[in-house]
Amino acid sequence: MDTFPNEFRDQLLNLMAWRRDVRRFRTDPVDEAVLMRCLDTFRLAPSVGLSEPWRIIRVQSEAARASALENYKVANAQALAGYDGDQAASYSQLKLSGMVEAPEHLAIFCDDRTAQGHGLGAATMPETRRYSVVGAVTLMWLAARSEGLGMGWVSILDPDQLCRDLNVPTGWSLVAYMCVGWPEEQSDTPELERAGWEHRHNLIIETR
Ligand SMILES: Cc1cc2nc3c(=O)[nH]c(=O)nc-3n(C[C@H](O)[C@H](O)[C@H](O)COP(=O)(O)O)c2cc1C
Repeated sequence: MDTFPNEFRDQLLNLMAWRRDVRRFRTDPVDEAVLMRCLDTFRLAPSVGLSEPWRIIRVQSEAARASALENYKVANAQALAGYDGDQAASYSQLKLSGMVEAPEHLAIFCDDRTAQGHGLGAATMPETRRYSVVGAVTLMWLAARSEGLGMGWVSILDPDQLCRDLNVPTGWSLVAYMCVGWPEEQSDTPELERAGWEHRHNLIIETR
């Protein structure tokens, strides 16, 4: 495939524009085949040295979901305590996770000690393994959106606690905790922008 038609490029941009971080989910289940199609995009993602360092845990048991939710509640209360006045009031109104409603939870880790890739590209920048995981998550985010599914990234968590609760192998670090499900609404504007918390700024490109 040398080039993609203009109409495809327009649609791809549309997909990117309408990808959202979703925190408001319907509770109905996600079809297994749809979820697997989305997860399969990890295999298409770039990774440093072709190390494919992503490790994915589907958080399904009631106990594991409950511990993740409790983790979020504690971390969110601590985060709220870091704000004062109007900003604290505004923060407390934000919905910052859809963990209760989302039918699927994915805890996505980086295996910082993987031998795959033989260390190529990661000797001076081992963090590139984690960057690789982020890139893969982004591909899945777009694939999910193309299916009409929503994903929401939850980082208001104590990662060490989450690793302990999920009993992950030594050397795995948490990169993303993703809620997945059918969104209650669609928008081309980030929820934080709609809530008046922050807005997108102009792109700055410097030439030196
Ligand atoms: C690394 C990362 C961590 C994030 N953590 C959270 C989070 O804990 N809670 C939340 O509500 N949104 C979280 N978000 C979503 C961002 O707030 C969101 O991406 C941003 O506001 C832009 O909105 P959009 O993704 O809909 O374009 C996170 C996003 C990224 C990329």
